[in-house]
Amino acid sequence: MDQKSLRLGQVAVAGGVMKTMSEFIITGGNRLSGDIAVSGGKNAVLPIMAASVMANSPCILHNAPDLIDVRVMSEILRGLGAVVERVDSGRSLYIDPSTLKSSVVDETLVRQVRSSIFLIGPLVAKLGKATVSYPGGCDIGQRPIDQHLKGLSALGVVFEEAHGNIVAQAHKLQGTGIHLDIPSVGATENIMMCAAMVDGVTVIRNAAKEPEIVDLQGFLNAMGARIRGAGTDVIRIEGVRALEGCEHMVMPDRIEVGTLMAAAAITAGDIYITNAVAEHVQAVTSKLREVGATISVPGKGLRVRGPNRRRPTDLKTLPYPGFPTDMQPQMMALLSIAEGTSVISETIFESRFKQAEELGRMGARIRTEGRTAIIKGVPRLSGARVVSSDLRSGASLVLAGLAAEGRTIVSGIENVDRGYEGIERKLAALGAEIIRQE
Ligand code: EPZ
Repeated sequence: MDQKSLRLGQVAVAGGVMKTMSEFIITGGNRLSGDIAVSGGKNAVLPIMAASVMANSPCILHNAPDLIDVRVMSEILRGLGAVVERVDSGRSLYIDPSTLKSSVVDETLVRQVRSSIFLIGPLVAKLGKATVSYPGGCDIGQRPIDQHLKGLSALGVVFEEAHGNIVAQAHKLQGTGIHLDIPSVGATENIMMCAAMVDGVTVIRNAAKEPEIVDLQGFLNAMGARIRGAGTDVIRIEGVRALEGCEHMVMPDRIEVGTLMAAAAITAGDIYITNAVAEHVQAVTSKLREVGATISVPGKGLRVRGPNRRRPTDLKTLPYPGFPTDMQPQMMALLSIAEGTSVISETIFESRFKQAEELGRMGARIRTEGRTAIIKGVPRLSGARVVSSDLRSGASLVLAGLAAEGRTIVSGIENVDRGYEGIERKLAALGAEIIRQE
């Protein structure tokens, strides 16, 4: 990682980016108002960056967010021999994979961006081989990869384990039918990318239906792939021999949209998200309306007016188009000041309630039992010093700080920087009192 690209306060260690020393200082009570645009989607750009290695010529990804995960993935691609540069005054990523020479992914970087596991599909398709260290679990759960291995093995990829690394080799790759046991986003993407350059037709059933998979299909087809069905649970891929570079506009980040919607709701604000895709956030819109928010779709974008009094509601996280697990911590913050008791069931990840304890330090009354959280609403939260343990729990604590009385200090915000591009700048532009303290 070149020193100049590090964010102030970050320290670089062997090849990667580690902790920043910074924190957010928030003074609560301001109602958010105004117009805001979200950045390109983290969970869209990461698989698209992985897919870009399959091209024989350069790609340009427009609206690519400048996030820690994107910087680390860029570092991973550089380690494989690709050229990766910010262009278009930093708004786009130029990736030239024609100099790709290694199929061994740097293991210190895999630990920092575990979704680099979906480099296996593209590297095996392009180079016939891939070596990636086991990404391991993270703060929200075990994060198994059995569905990735099942699908890629069905295509003919042979896996071995060597010193904690997964070594994947292509023998005779052949398109086939694959029925996923669970609609895994990453596994769907990994298999789709590999199958794009495998002889024959591959049909993935029980595929994940997230909008990011539709965006990836668009990118792959722009490179010359022949894929249909993304966004449904049956995806058909007809393998082609070669893929060429292309330009692609990364879709807006639907979880950042949801997070800003929740920010308007929790501060009784009135904001307009200019580039929101209403269809991508229907489940969040429906839940926020149950809580009392007024949400309108004026042709383009999304207008969200938060209620002065918040109703409780129950929610269960599910694969898309169900309520997204990536919005569960943010909703927990909002429901902690609803007038009544709410119940959250987290069906996707086994330990995604880390924010409950920290919200409790701010006065929230939340009891968790396994994958269920019972939230007894309180009239208001009080500012406190809290710690973000993962990306979305950090976002949840920021939202709570916006509504709390007094000052909240959120540390561990390198987690938040993994998935939100300058969230403090966006919130401050909407009237929040929030600063980044390096
Ligand atoms: C993607 O992770 C997202 N990350 C996650 O966003 C998101 O929470 C998740 O999808 C669900 O929507 C990226 O896209 C980079 P999964 P992924 O495979 O692909 C189990 C964020 O905050 N599973 O759909 O890893 C798994 O344990 C992040 O932005 C298996 O059992 O999610 C989980 O319970 C967090 N075997 C469920 O499926 C497998 O082989 C969903 O996981 C794979 C997954």
